[in-house]
Amino acid sequence: MAEQLGDWVRTHTCGALRTADLDTDATLLGWVHRVRDLGGVLFIDIRDREGVSQVVFRDNDELLAQAKKLRPEFVVGVKGLVESRSPETVNPKLATGDVEVLARELRLLNEAKTPPFQIAEDSPVSEDVRLKYRYLDLRRPRLQGNIGLRHKVAFAIREQFNAKGFWEIETPILTKSTPEGARDYLVPSRVHPGEFYALPQSPQLFKQILMIGGMDRYFQITRCFRDEDLRADRQPEFTQVDVEMAFASPDLIYGLMEPVIQRIFACIGKTLPAPFRRMPYAEAMAKYGSDKPDLRCGMEIHDVSAAFVDSEFRVFKQIIVDGGVIRGFAVPGGNKYTRNQIDGIVDQAKQIGFGGLIWVRPGEPPTSSVKALSEGSLRAAITGIGATADDLVLLAGGPADNTSSLLGQLRLAVAKRENLLDPEKYEVLWVTDFPLLEWSGEDGRWYAMHHPFTSPMDEDMDKLESDPGSVRAKAYDLVLNGSEIGGGSIRIHSAEMQARIFRRLGISDEEAKSRFGFFLEALEYGTPPHGGIALGLDRIIAILANEASIREVIAFPKTATAVDLMSDAPSTVDPKQLRELHLKSSK
Ligand code: AMO
Repeated sequence: MAEQLGDWVRTHTCGALRTADLDTDATLLGWVHRVRDLGGVLFIDIRDREGVSQVVFRDNDELLAQAKKLRPEFVVGVKGLVESRSPETVNPKLATGDVEVLARELRLLNEAKTPPFQIAEDSPVSEDVRLKYRYLDLRRPRLQGNIGLRHKVAFAIREQFNAKGFWEIETPILTKSTPEGARDYLVPSRVHPGEFYALPQSPQLFKQILMIGGMDRYFQITRCFRDEDLRADRQPEFTQVDVEMAFASPDLIYGLMEPVIQRIFACIGKTLPAPFRRMPYAEAMAKYGSDKPDLRCGMEIHDVSAAFVDSEFRVFKQIIVDGGVIRGFAVPGGNKYTRNQIDGIVDQAKQIGFGGLIWVRPGEPPTSSVKALSEGSLRAAITGIGATADDLVLLAGGPADNTSSLLGQLRLAVAKRENLLDPEKYEVLWVTDFPLLEWSGEDGRWYAMHHPFTSPMDEDMDKLESDPGSVRAKAYDLVLNGSEIGGGSIRIHSAEMQARIFRRLGISDEEAKSRFGFFLEALEYGTPPHGGIALGLDRIIAILANEASIREVIAFPKTATAVDLMSDAPSTVDPKQLRELHLKSSK
């Protein structure tokens, strides 16, 4: 039977007691973490968010009998005297490990069913079970730490923006579609039959309108909603640190955001040097086969086609004759890999889509993998790649347009399987000079690479119609350890240019008016030049917490199929509710 709290007030959290508190009275409130029953003496560890304290029951038979009924996860209150632990029970691993509370009174505030997994043990539990019983998982140190870190980071971000004169302004959740490349979540209107709100994929148009509205500097830590294929770093609802400023240039945005990122890192006690490195998109693609290169492991991709133009090795020679390229990179320390390890890498290359992979130990005579390659070609390739005798050189050929991106995938796969990505290292960079547009062969049209409100570079504007693929954008991404943690741009602030971009994207004037009419009209009332960025808060916290998935840093995440296993959302609704919303379910 659950007792009431009555007039009991916590005097200390369960993580607070130290030797300085000896001989004082303490009231602790929390969960039973562990019970150790030694017959005439019983210990319980009592836990709350701040830590664990040991409570001892002895010399009081009635109280001892009461304590013997306690089970893990029961909620209790204990009043008692803080005393020293006997030397053999001192626990140096625990902040409260020198002291214990000798219980004088116990209140059983609530019982608990036997949990499906132990809170006190870090035993492996399937993710589905953890998500269904999220409230129990939240009691474990891993999530307590992650959610606490998230709070700390969000608070530091707010302080930093406030100090720079940015106002946190809320934007609507029930709104009109903002294109960010995903499907919208729609909310039917009851009062307007057949009409829908869209949940924001981002506050993009509203933050731009705030600049038109003279708000000058805006930020918001806000939820965004995107109906897209989910992965470890994607959730259907996620949190952005959304930022916009009037009269912005890319340099001003970098100068604003670098201290924000530094402050975020200070939350885990890390110093990140600034200014951050900057790398044009074209360089990132050529050297790392990715627009979000992980710079923790070197392994730059080099084009060594020239070494194989006159090669005896038919496969490579034919690739070049067909207009393809030979590229490769050196794996540091790879010279000592066993044949098994190398075979694993070759298999990986095949899975990624290469017909084959040539590997070379630069310091050694040619091995079986390279017999058909002439010594001259090999030497030229090794020199071109800049490999040393400690490295393993990997070479592959294929069409010019995708060989680097496949090698980029292989580079990461090798780095992961051979543990070349130091989890304690943080490599952050700005990727700049993105192309404005991206051609979709499937749809036969251009798409905005960032979003359609991004400004082309001044010097490329006159190529919009004649050579759209070569137009660069005033857009930038922030990349941390191979993960895109933010993206933004300087915006189009002229209505005329915005209309030109919509035409280029094949969006008719009518369509533009019906989708973004309010925004296009606003642009005509004195829009200042402006720009901004949005950070992916979940991704940043996951990296800081060294978690592979953002689900570990969100209190109530959804599964890969967008289901909340705890609340069982989404779910069917009452037919009456559907009728009110003028909807019919086909299910
Ligand atoms: P973008 O679409 O690049 O830009 O989003 C900004 C950042 O948000 C994070 N992110 C996600 N995180 C978790 N789950 C998702 N489904 C998800 N999608 C994106 C990424 C990404 O870098 N309006 C623009 C910003 C701007 O131009 O100012 C925007 O939303 O870390």
